[in-house]
Amino acid sequence: MLNLSSLDYSVFKDKKSIFSWAPSGAILFGNGAAKRTGEELKKLGVKKATLVTDQGLVKFGIADKIIQSVTGAGIKLDVYDECKPDSSVETVDKIVALAKDSDVVIGLGGGSSMDPAKAAAILVTNGGSIRDYQGCDKFTAAPLPIVAIPTAAGTGSECTPFAVIADRQRAWKMPVGGTGIMPALAICDPELTYSLPASVTAATGMDALTHAIEAYTSRCTEPISDALAVQAIKLIAPAIRPVVYRGDSDKDARYDMMMGAMLAGYAFTTASLGISHCMAHPLGAQYHVPHGVANALCLPVVMEFNMGAWPEHYADIAGFFGEDTYGMSVREAAKVGVQCVYELLEDMPIKPLESFGVTEDGLERLADDAMEGGDRPNNARMTTKDDFIQLYKKVMTLKK
Ligand SMILES: [Fe+2]
Repeated sequence: MLNLSSLDYSVFKDKKSIFSWAPSGAILFGNGAAKRTGEELKKLGVKKATLVTDQGLVKFGIADKIIQSVTGAGIKLDVYDECKPDSSVETVDKIVALAKDSDVVIGLGGGSSMDPAKAAAILVTNGGSIRDYQGCDKFTAAPLPIVAIPTAAGTGSECTPFAVIADRQRAWKMPVGGTGIMPALAICDPELTYSLPASVTAATGMDALTHAIEAYTSRCTEPISDALAVQAIKLIAPAIRPVVYRGDSDKDARYDMMMGAMLAGYAFTTASLGISHCMAHPLGAQYHVPHGVANALCLPVVMEFNMGAWPEHYADIAGFFGEDTYGMSVREAAKVGVQCVYELLEDMPIKPLESFGVTEDGLERLADDAMEGGDRPNNARMTTKDDFIQLYKKVMTLKK
């Protein structure tokens, strides 16, 4: 019989290695929290700030709420509001030009605003191009402090020390990381997500679920990340359908999704991710498949591939989705865990890969780039190039 009511650390295998845990600065979480942005910046002694956001948030009046709050607190503010999906090296350079005299950079939006804000914070104090800082801890001077205000429950960038920037010259999504870009303040206000359309809610929510599941099943898990990942899955699993189907009115589900996405971000800060992200990044860089859509499609296929490497944790996932696995073997319960995510994908308004122009001819190049993914060594199961080709083929059969 499985014990799904508590974590069994006998499956936490690597008790000899040392792990570090460096949480972010402050978190302000709750409905209406964004209105307090100016007040919070004032407490931090900020005199001048740069806001990084996009035209969608300007149009829906969300950027204006933050602008009013910040300028109302007597803080000078410059605004860059031209962020686009998959923010690029060039976008980062434009933000740097604006943020040179600022005390803080505020990223308002999804990863496409928070990540270039983080990258610009590095360049303001270190100089050069963000290409010089690809990888982990490549900068020496402390970046400008970062305030992150997510407007979707997805990326978790508000509480991770990572940013992903698109290098269009190389058709490559470039990871940049270091504890200096962990936001000094995360302001998480579920109200900011109420007006998100169903398709964006689904894609970003599936990204958050992928973070939680990949963190829970990676080779780098440790007890703190496990606790966070478990709670993230338990929050996201029952909330994701309600926020997609009735996200304008189910405020409790919006709250749970934002909390789940944040916890998942913390979880993968130490536990890392897996090959769903190795597969998703080239799909974004080469075919402009939105990050959450790519992960939504890859996640169940990757879980099925990985399941045998750590069946106990995949069996736990069935329980976190509310399935009764009493009397099942661990392997049977693990299969139920995978099936839960296949069924969830069926219910999500996610487009198939073919609608982005992905064909079998392109799989070789996608697999080559997936092999270069930084999270491949962290995945529960070793993965070869041929494995990636077979996995992409399976992903192409979904949502037809
Ligand atoms: Fe992600």
